[in-house]
Amino acid sequence: MLKDKILMIKNRAVEEIKKAPTNDALFSLRVKYLGRKSEFTNILKGIKDLSPEEKKNVGQLANEIKKEIENTFLEKERVIKQKMFDPEKEKIDVTIPGKRISHGHLHILSKVQYEIEDIFASMGFEIADGPEAETEHYNFDVLNIPKNHPARNMQDTFWLKQTAGKERIAMRTATSAVQVRYMEKHEPPIRTIVPGRCFRCEATDSTHDHTFFQFEALMVDKNINVGNLKYIAQEFFSKFFKKDVKIRLRPSYFPFTEPSFEFDISCLVCDRKGCSACRGGGWLELGGAGMVNQNVFVAAGYPRNKYQGFAWGFGLERLAMMKYKIDDIRLFHSGDLRFISQF
Ligand code: FA5
Repeated sequence: MLKDKILMIKNRAVEEIKKAPTNDALFSLRVKYLGRKSEFTNILKGIKDLSPEEKKNVGQLANEIKKEIENTFLEKERVIKQKMFDPEKEKIDVTIPGKRISHGHLHILSKVQYEIEDIFASMGFEIADGPEAETEHYNFDVLNIPKNHPARNMQDTFWLKQTAGKERIAMRTATSAVQVRYMEKHEPPIRTIVPGRCFRCEATDSTHDHTFFQFEALMVDKNINVGNLKYIAQEFFSKFFKKDVKIRLRPSYFPFTEPSFEFDISCLVCDRKGCSACRGGGWLELGGAGMVNQNVFVAAGYPRNKYQGFAWGFGLERLAMMKYKIDDIRLFHSGDLRFISQF
């Protein structure tokens, strides 16, 4: 009787397995016929209570049937797998263009900064830096900027909240703040540039921003003159722009240089026809320059009149604007990816 029951289960199982349409259906059938709570497993569990003779017969049959059901499952699995294999779907079209992986890159200002550093390094200049939050001492006092100079008042300078009894700290208004810091630690001959971020509390327009980069140059030795300043600048421009750039020095005034100049280059965006990058004038004011005032050397601890030197502070964005034909400085800090990803 038990044998009949086992055979009946097997016939049902084989029939249903053969009809199963999917792998999911096969899985359910496996639970139904061979699972721990299945009728068949229950019968197997009961075999131990049979007489030794029956145990042998039924046990042997049950094992054979189990194997047969297993084999039916395996065979059906193979059939389903074969049916599901669609050679059309498996085909790989190697001619489809790949997906472009977008990855970050250096900001245009960093690129320009590194380019400038490479050029000056090749001319034997050292790259130096200093703090962006600077003491009044280095940003103004040592640069021979008198206490009542307008650049110290609130319009130009972002002052940090003052701690009682401590020196006033400003966001540096120019990289010139690093001049004396550097000279205190180095003896001439000096050849250094200082690229860095500067801050000014002023109205913005196409050539002015509240945050911008300058790079300071400082060359000090016993016989430096304006000719050295012009030569080094011209060398730099021809390497940076890879073409001839006209330069113009206009007399100016800075407390820390004597004589002082405004340094202009011909506008490469419009080729001196006039555009928004040069505000119509055909020339772009790149920065201030001059021969280091002896008072600054004295503030740095050098003897008066022992050395001469030139210094300049050029706007880094303005160089980038000329080279890459960008006509509004505010784009640099806009965070606008349509702009940033162009470079
Ligand atoms: C100075 O900052 C002087 N420290 C330069 C200097 C250094 C003179 C060494 C002599 C010797 P000025 O304020 O003119 O000078 O600024 C120099 C340049 O920095 C400007 O010509 C311009 O290119 C850039 N600059 C100044 N203010 C801004 C601003 N708000 N936005 C963008 N660029 C600026």
